[in-house]
Amino acid sequence: MAAEAGGAAGKRRIMCVGLVCLDIISVVKDFPAEDSDTRCLSQRWQRGGNASNSCTVLSLLGAPCSFMGSLAPGPAADFIAADFQRRGVDTAHVAWHPRGDVPCACCLVNATSGSRTIVLHDTNLPDVTARHFERVDLSQYKWIHFEARNAAEQSAMLERVERHNRAAAPGRRVFISKDLAQHFGYLSAPEALQGLRGRIQPGATLICAWAEKGADALGPDGELVHSDAFPPETLVDTLGAGDTFNAAVIFALAEGRTLQDALTFGCRIAGRKCGIQGFDGIV
Ligand SMILES: Nc1ncnc2c1ncn2[C@@H]1O[C@H](COP(=O)(O)OP(=O)(O)OP(=O)(O)O)[C@@H](O)[C@H]1O
Ligand SMILES: [Mg+2]
Repeated sequence: MAAEAGGAAGKRRIMCVGLVCLDIISVVKDFPAEDSDTRCLSQRWQRGGNASNSCTVLSLLGAPCSFMGSLAPGPAADFIAADFQRRGVDTAHVAWHPRGDVPCACCLVNATSGSRTIVLHDTNLPDVTARHFERVDLSQYKWIHFEARNAAEQSAMLERVERHNRAAAPGRRVFISKDLAQHFGYLSAPEALQGLRGRIQPGATLICAWAEKGADALGPDGELVHSDAFPPETLVDTLGAGDTFNAAVIFALAEGRTLQDALTFGCRIAGRKCGIQGFDGIV
């Protein structure tokens, strides 16, 4: 979900609200069989989580950005906080909980196919609430992206953004992932857009990425746009491709580019990401 927040002119930031976790990534040559004992090609710790990854990409694209989500002190949070700092992502609105575990994902990246298999331990760390969000000075942000998580609290946060924007036309941008679309029974991005068009606010934009098929979007006036994927020469790591796509589309739309341009830019940057391990080198 995304809501454009109006406010004072100047270099306003993009904020992403959602999950940050520790990704422990093993890069394997072949996907292991269950109950086997094998070696991997390489292993790394990476700051992960959808909203957190999108901040990484926004930073690499040169957009000042802020992450808002939950953390609890400990070695995982130390690693994460240092990485946010290294990337120049503002963390002033991180909700620090005195106790609790930082979510952690064990990820297998298959270097032969680029597939990523994720097992997330989404711990009991409470998500940020509308009360936390009250402290955000909305005039400092030109765009706020919400990774859909705690729906009741997030709808209160969105209402606050809408009140802040009351002078402007509503222009919600909703990103729906292939996983969620498939969960609803849709077999392609255009089918998902057609099926869901009646369920979004009038004037909203619906955007759906579909791996190697690229991405499709439905604009506020009902126009459908599509971009093919830009497959890299060799697919090596698709972990965070969706987060990269979202960040690049947000970046382009926030710059005032057309929906078609933004979709194409999103696929181009996401395609580059699929050709490298991690995020360094996407721009
Ligand atoms: N195999 C691929 N070949 C080419 N491009 C790809 C491939 N996989 C992903 N992409 C690019 O990345 C975009 C998003 O990919 P995808 O729909 O797979 O996201 P996702 O699996 O939900 O992401 P995430 O791993 O971040 O959760 C696609 O629109 C496409 O541009
Ligand atoms: Mg994928």
